[in-house]
Amino acid sequence: MRKTLLLLCCMCILALQAQDLSLIPNPVSVTKNDGRFMLEGKVVICCPKVKNSDITNVVDKFVHEIKTATGVKLKKSYYKNSKMLGLNVEKCPTKGDAHITLKIDDTMGDEAYKLSVKEKRIDITAAKPAGFFYAFQTLKQLMPRNVMAVTPDETVKEWSIPAVDIVDEPRFAWRGFMLDEGRHFYGKEEIKKILDVMAAYKMNRFHWHLTEDQGWRIEIKKYPKLTDVGAWRESKVLGWGDVKPDGIHYGGYYTHKDAKEIVEYAKERFIEIVPEIDIPGHSQAAVAAYPEFLACDPENEHSVWLWQGVSSDVINVANPKAVQFAKDVIDELTNIFPFEYIHLGGDECPTSKWERNADCQALLSEIGSTNYRDLQINFYKQILEHIAEKPADEQRNLIFWNEVLHGNTAPLGNNITIMAWIGADGAAKDAATRGMNTILSPQIPYYINRKQSKLPTEPLSQGHGTETVEAVYNYVPMKNVPEELQSKYMGVQANFWTEWVETADIVQYLMLPRLAAVAEAGWTPQNRRNYADFEQRLQAEADYYKLRGVNYGKHVFGK
Ligand code: ACM
Repeated sequence: MRKTLLLLCCMCILALQAQDLSLIPNPVSVTKNDGRFMLEGKVVICCPKVKNSDITNVVDKFVHEIKTATGVKLKKSYYKNSKMLGLNVEKCPTKGDAHITLKIDDTMGDEAYKLSVKEKRIDITAAKPAGFFYAFQTLKQLMPRNVMAVTPDETVKEWSIPAVDIVDEPRFAWRGFMLDEGRHFYGKEEIKKILDVMAAYKMNRFHWHLTEDQGWRIEIKKYPKLTDVGAWRESKVLGWGDVKPDGIHYGGYYTHKDAKEIVEYAKERFIEIVPEIDIPGHSQAAVAAYPEFLACDPENEHSVWLWQGVSSDVINVANPKAVQFAKDVIDELTNIFPFEYIHLGGDECPTSKWERNADCQALLSEIGSTNYRDLQINFYKQILEHIAEKPADEQRNLIFWNEVLHGNTAPLGNNITIMAWIGADGAAKDAATRGMNTILSPQIPYYINRKQSKLPTEPLSQGHGTETVEAVYNYVPMKNVPEELQSKYMGVQANFWTEWVETADIVQYLMLPRLAAVAEAGWTPQNRRNYADFEQRLQAEADYYKLRGVNYGKHVFGK
């Protein structure tokens, strides 16, 4: 009996200790050991000195965050890291004061890291700055949540880190979140909060949906009316059913300077921005700005749309000036966003106006097709050719929503990426079979703008409250995909559409904590994912959200 009690006690202590770790996303392997590393003023952080590497920036940021959150000033010291001579760690203290040592291991993956915390030392190993960054994110999550929130907490008297051994790397290269600012505009500070939360969960792609029928949100210097006209509409709410436009002059946009500020903020967090210009559909705001060459029927009135849904007022893809417009926009985007991908949308593009337009009819017959979707493909083909002519550092890969697969994609080649949302699993498999890369962003359950509970207090949004945290968590990416196609699956992404969502506060409420569930699907091996365990680890996140000043679904935390 006494033995059984002892065993039960030990099991309880182990369970409590594991809970104490509360890491999201769950690492590939975690071993909890006895003891704690005390984080105090004498700790030295010893780093390799590598020319032209961002490691120094990553360390500086960590040291700054620790100072801000805990008051502890870590001392920095550097050692030479020469490949010729091998690693020289002699200048790092080996005894006496506690220390944190960073080592480079080129054999590891770009985002992988190893983290060993003992009573007197912490060792971090990674190949690239991103790996070190993620190790620091894990270290911060091993401390009270004010550290991840980078804000002081007077109630904490002692800063320490539990002894652990962690070996970690992401399951997928793409762990994304999309925000639609075409429907509603939130501004820079709100985007920075989102980037912080994404980084806390080791997400690495911010897909910025910047244009819609209802608003164009990025300055394009060559076409000033895109923002003078296209960024403004005469209603804050978007009409739908009994909800009528309210007549309020509403809008906003990002200048190049604003966008570059966001780019820098994202880069510091190892997040690539994927700007989306949704063309030729979802483009009524652009058409309203330049109807003379973008409209299929320039003789009619065009204005920024005040309604929800899908407008039929699409770009006239048979007008050479519209094609030139798209190329010019790409050129400016390339200049603002120094990342690998640009998203050109391609979803829900009605062809009714093309079907009634003589130039579009003629072009369709010229390209030898009877499927109007192929006019859209032909438009993209010209943009691809334009990008292909650019210097290497201005090359960009293109992403499209999966409706593009409804046309003959042969002219686009298979060097494009398909973001699968509608019938996502089937569409992704179709894309992979055609040899294209694909990203899983299934409408159900990864559209985290949909209601996250059935509670009467749920704010106005789409859905019936069935996309709960659990439902989102339990989606299994890449299920039943033949092995030979798996390398085409780049990863997962949560999307947030904002037709109903006028304030950043509600964006956050609906986004959190469901974003954490998607982040774990992107990072953690499927066999390490378990909702009951996730729910326990999630409990610590309420403190993080409060301290970072973001709203969240409090009902998920029983409050
Ligand atoms: C989409 O939800 N229209 C991509």
